Amino acid sequence: MVSFNQFLAHLIVLVFLFSSLCDGKVMMEYIGATGVPVSFDKVPIDDGIDFHFVLGFAIDANNSGEPQNGMFSPYWLSTLTPKSVARIKARHPNVLASLSGWSLGDKVLSWYNPKDPDHWISNAFTSLQSLASDYHLDGIDIDYETFPRNDTTFSYCIGELITSLKNNSIISVATIAPYYRTVDPYIRLFKEYGGVIDYVNHQFYTDRVRDPRAYVEAFRTRATQFEAEKLLPSYEVDGRGIQGDAFFDALALLEKSGFSVNGVMIFSADASKSNGYYYERKSQAFLLNSTAATSN
Ligand SMILES: *[C@@H]1O[C@H](CO)[C@@H](O)[C@H](O)[C@H]1NC(C)=O
Ligand SMILES: *[C@@H]1O[C@H](CO)[C@@H](O)[C@H](O)[C@H]1NC(C)=O
Ligand SMILES: *[C@@H]1O[C@H](CO)[C@@H](O)[C@H](O)[C@H]1NC(C)=O
Ligand SMILES: *[C@@H]1O[C@H](CO)[C@@H](O)[C@H](O)[C@H]1NC(C)=O
Repeated sequence: MVSFNQFLAHLIVLVFLFSSLCDGKVMMEYIGATGVPVSFDKVPIDDGIDFHFVLGFAIDANNSGEPQNGMFSPYWLSTLTPKSVARIKARHPNVLASLSGWSLGDKVLSWYNPKDPDHWISNAFTSLQSLASDYHLDGIDIDYETFPRNDTTFSYCIGELITSLKNNSIISVATIAPYYRTVDPYIRLFKEYGGVIDYVNHQFYTDRVRDPRAYVEAFRTRATQFEAEKLLPSYEVDGRGIQGDAFFDALALLEKSGFSVNGVMIFSADASKSNGYYYERKSQAFLLNSTAATSN
């Protein structure tokens, strides 16, 4: 016989599993790209949030910014060590490495057509496999921000790279980070390989919308280019686009307009350090609040 208490315990477990499957809200937090001394453990992380740190950046270049045919090296803040990643992961977040970023030193980075795309993929696979193993990484984010006019290889190389990293259980999460000038190559990538892409960290702050209504319209546009369910609203701390609490008005207006806000991306922990992580706290409160509202 199953006692009432056992029954209750099973019920609670089931309800918990069900609600975490339905409402797993995510946070994406870029960290380590600017040189500001930051650490993982100062960033507030709420229970019930599927938190992802995104390390900026792993770069296919040597110290002089010269491409290395797919061999990625870590260029994020050196105090974000494998040990510190292991320590923060004990508190349940995921840690991703973002590929490329805007520049290395004063050298602007660009996608380039590798002479032998399959060789590039193989080098990228090997170098990221070893980074993932050294740093206990859960995934990668794709943040190439400059493309040659004659790009013919980005979608194939990146799509196949993500596919084989996932297929070999080296990563479990993959995200992409288009901005207004780079949506085209990312749309091609998403069309061909959307099945292996979990979230779209679109940089809404580059769309230069400053009020909640315009933010919702920008979201509506991007939702036609990518899947609405995978698209995360984003905020640049002390940066471009919507600023201050108007961002939270935009999140509320998104939900009122029928979109489900499945997470928030913030750039970045480096900038948030000086305001006590206000936007991280408030974003997570919003996400948990809207979880509670939808499951009631
Ligand atoms: C970087 O790579 C380029 C081309 O592969 C090479 O010519 C250069 O010497 C390298 N620089 C450093 C600092 O390793
Ligand atoms: C593509 O454009 C880049 C510069 O953006 C140039 O260096 C390269 O040679 C071009 N490749 C082809 C195949 O035309
Ligand atoms: C994924 O892995 C399976 C078996 O491990 C293999 O047969 C398949 O070709 C792989 N697919 C890709 C795209 O790597
Ligand atoms: C939580 O939701 C309620 C009702 O929708 C709303 O009035 C309140 O402002 C929300 N709080 C936060 C922190 O978003």
